[in-house]
Amino acid sequence: RMYRRQMMCRRDIDVFNVPFLAIYGSLIPPEEEKLKQKKLVALLEKLVSKEWPTAKLYLYGSCANSFGVSKSDIDVCLAIEEADMEKSKIIMKLADILQSDNLQNVQALTRARVPIVKLMDPVTGISCDICINNLLAVVNTKLLRDYAHIDPRLRQLAFIIKHWAKSRRVNETYHGTLSSYAYVLMCIHFLQMRRPAILPCLQEMETTYSVTVDDIHCAYFDQVEKLSDFGRHNKESIAQLVRGFFHYWAYCHDYANTVISVRTGSIISKREKDWTRRIGNDRHLICIEDPFEISHDLGRVVDKHSIKVLREEFERAAEIMQNDPNPCIKLFEPY
Ligand code: CTP
Ligand code: MG
Repeated sequence: RMYRRQMMCRRDIDVFNVPFLAIYGSLIPPEEEKLKQKKLVALLEKLVSKEWPTAKLYLYGSCANSFGVSKSDIDVCLAIEEADMEKSKIIMKLADILQSDNLQNVQALTRARVPIVKLMDPVTGISCDICINNLLAVVNTKLLRDYAHIDPRLRQLAFIIKHWAKSRRVNETYHGTLSSYAYVLMCIHFLQMRRPAILPCLQEMETTYSVTVDDIHCAYFDQVEKLSDFGRHNKESIAQLVRGFFHYWAYCHDYANTVISVRTGSIISKREKDWTRRIGNDRHLICIEDPFEISHDLGRVVDKHSIKVLREEFERAAEIMQNDPNPCIKLFEPY
């Protein structure tokens, strides 16, 4: 009888799978939105090729990595061989070309850290940022998309974590919190570390795809259709994974000594990377290694104040997942 009582009182996290999956479903962009994006890119391609016939446009970021929620802006990269033309000049020229057509609010932001052209398409209402020759972003976009194809739980988890981060305002790099890109890497890493693992480490497997971009050799196994049953031995549900994710970042991660690394599918030491002290503006208070640009810590934007904010939010979320009767509402309560 005692056993039965325990069974009945035990808080069964799995009752929250249905509401979590419903939130996930409501965030997925509808097919018509994807079509509108494609139309806009086709228009841009037409305009760009008039001026630069050999230039190419690539989509990157959330519109192409499969972690984009409905109504996101789109990120476009113009790949162009204009060796003797400064980036800011290309940006001005590009803005000029696009201005002349029926696009709105075309702005050249030449002095931003990453110079871009910003614009809005009045027909579809879609906003778009265009950068120049940022091909590493195009390659890491493919890596993220390939990971998403292996196990559906990655996309579900990442949508929920991104939605939480936006609701709680901890997805603002200009305020010292983390980028969406960093959160997706945290999700991939978390699923690589489950036992049994839910995701493999593609960069440790046989190379089937390789490119060299800006002197960085990017290589990994990209035949992910062959890995579609990789996670079958792990039966954890989405609610368990959301709880586990926050539990890890609230109570288990060793912020002082370790770096999470999707590249190796493991945790590595800060000492090994020489990320133990502040250098310039890089404080390394939470360390997330970029999978290709391995000297790049995606946590470098985090400062003394924002690390506190972040860790308090992880703890709040972990507490809610552990004890709140209504986690699917409480978790996303606006900050
Ligand atoms: N990126 C990068 N290095 C960073 C930040 C971003 O290479 N430090 C690239 C990645 O290719 C990423 C893209 O820029 O996919 C867009 O980054 P971000 O805006 O953080 O992610 P999105 O997936 O576009 O998320 P959101 O839905 O919030 O727009
Ligand atoms: Mg984006």
